[in-house]
Amino acid sequence: MAKVCIIVGSRRNGNSSHLANILKDRFKKERIVSYIITPGNQKIYLCTGCMDCDTNGHCDFKDDMSENIDKILDSDTLIFITPTRWNLLSGDLKIFMDRLNPLYTTKKLENKKMVSLVIGSKDKAEYSTEAALTSLNSFADSSNMRLIYSHQFNNCLEGTDILDKQEEIDNVVCELIKIIK
Ligand SMILES: Cc1cc2nc3c(=O)[nH]c(=O)nc-3n(C[C@H](O)[C@H](O)[C@H](O)COP(=O)(O)O)c2cc1C
Repeated sequence: MAKVCIIVGSRRNGNSSHLANILKDRFKKERIVSYIITPGNQKIYLCTGCMDCDTNGHCDFKDDMSENIDKILDSDTLIFITPTRWNLLSGDLKIFMDRLNPLYTTKKLENKKMVSLVIGSKDKAEYSTEAALTSLNSFADSSNMRLIYSHQFNNCLEGTDILDKQEEIDNVVCELIKIIK
């Protein structure tokens, strides 16, 4: 049975969270197990860059990352959903990614499937979500995950704007179910 971790880069009950919940509901109908992680609502210490994990393969901080890492290890696919912030990924996701370094050093992210979904308030023509996508995708590349799907949702400013894009969401969900299952 396919298992998926959906990592949500916004802590507000907005577009990223709505999209994550829709994915989880639709996956459930297809018997795909999914966990939603919202790092911004958790206790996660900032990586100090001590590099101990490079030698011993784990981080000495005791916080919510221990459980997150168990979920990631248990998943075949990681779906990152980020709001665009200053054309980049959200800070919450960056903090989360830094704390995944123990899985990088032990090569435990290698060959996991990765999906990047980016949401921004501006029009596609402004390329605002493009760099946010690039920052997520370069994480997939550096950690040797297999980037299997990406999508950018534009013109989502208010927290429920994405719910007006049912057809676009449906297409994304159908594609994801095909490649994740
Ligand atoms: C600090 C900050 C910076 C933002 N920068 C951008 C940006 O560069 N480009 C853009 O299209 N939207 C930007 N936005 C808007 C959000 O990406 C947009 O409202 C998104 O839908 C928020 O997702 P959420 O509802 O999941 O929080 C920014 C929002 C915040 C709070």
